[in-house]
Amino acid sequence: MHAITISEPGGPEVLVWDEVPDPIAGEGEVLVEVVASAVNRADIMQRQGFYNPPPGASPYPGLECSGRITEIGPGVSGWSVGDEACALLAGGGYAEKVAVPAGQLLPVPAGLDLKQAAALPEVVCTVWSNVFMVAHLRPTETLLVHGGSSGIGTMAIQLAKAVGAKVAVTAGTKGKLDYCAELGADILINYREQDFVAEIERATDGAGADVILDNMGAKYLDRNVQALAVNGRLAIIGMQGGIKAELNIAALLGKRAAISATSLRARPLGEKAAIVAAVREHVWPLIEGGRIRPVVDRELPMSEAGTAHQVLEDSGHIGKVLLVAP
Ligand SMILES: NC(=O)c1ccc[n+]([C@@H]2O[C@H](COP(=O)([O-])OP(=O)(O)OC[C@H]3O[C@@H](n4cnc5c(N)ncnc54)[C@H](OP(=O)(O)O)[C@@H]3O)[C@@H](O)[C@H]2O)c1
Repeated sequence: MHAITISEPGGPEVLVWDEVPDPIAGEGEVLVEVVASAVNRADIMQRQGFYNPPPGASPYPGLECSGRITEIGPGVSGWSVGDEACALLAGGGYAEKVAVPAGQLLPVPAGLDLKQAAALPEVVCTVWSNVFMVAHLRPTETLLVHGGSSGIGTMAIQLAKAVGAKVAVTAGTKGKLDYCAELGADILINYREQDFVAEIERATDGAGADVILDNMGAKYLDRNVQALAVNGRLAIIGMQGGIKAELNIAALLGKRAAISATSLRARPLGEKAAIVAAVREHVWPLIEGGRIRPVVDRELPMSEAGTAHQVLEDSGHIGKVLLVAP
């Protein structure tokens, strides 16, 4: 088969559409003929040499895909050859075929195009596991999403609105904030021009954000704690603003607040399967009911993965960039 390989750590030009050995469906796995994958910021870090695949995972990038099952490995039940599905992956989505643990498969939501389903697994599982399973966002609460127009952000806005919460977002341009408003965001903050701590305080009558979904890490740690409400929960999922920062523990204690940090990719198979099952139960009906949709900025041929990475690095997108297999 063909897959995107990383010839050496570096810029988008190191991504090469190459001939490689076919994957094999092992115990508990199925083989999927990939129709589409989607780009995640973690793929860029992997390409640059800063985010190696966990042991046993495919060396090729790609944390999600959609496609058709062509082979069922030993010990798999509930899926058949020919089924259409989308899947959460530990790697290997930028390829014509990928082996997938059966617990990470999801049916294509009714009413959704098979290609578009590739934009769902990574963002839905990340948002659901962090905002709902860990931070327990409630309908009466306010969620602050940093990077509201990102793949993650566009899903977080829709999911939080679907449960009835109030949503604040940060983004770097008016156009992106306008798009977040179309998705339902209530409080719009331009992080280049406004101080999000002051804006959250103003918009919540001084109460603060009950939950913050953070992509920035170190750079925003102190200000995120300042922006939290009493009993607030800060869910860190990214390190775009660095990995080391000082934490004012007194500020955290005073608010009886909590900080969590998770990474989906390296979690054990059982934990991923539990997240996927929860997503199927709670989120799939919202998609099938038309309340939530994948936000796809553009589709590119998979062989042009380098161009797709450049789009993300330039922040030239809203939502997800799809890579379509030949
Ligand atoms: N832990 C996990 O399991 C997990 C899983 C998936 C994703 N993630 C993380 O989630 C984040 C989003 O991923 P993605 O694939 O959706 O990325 P993406 O679409 O490339 O989005 C990156 C976002 O970062 C925003 N941003 C840049 N500087 C900012 C700042 N100073 N303040 C606020 N926002 C800023 C950008 O906003 P503008 O475009 O407006 O500049 C953009 O919306 C990444 O950090 C990624 O690593 C974590």
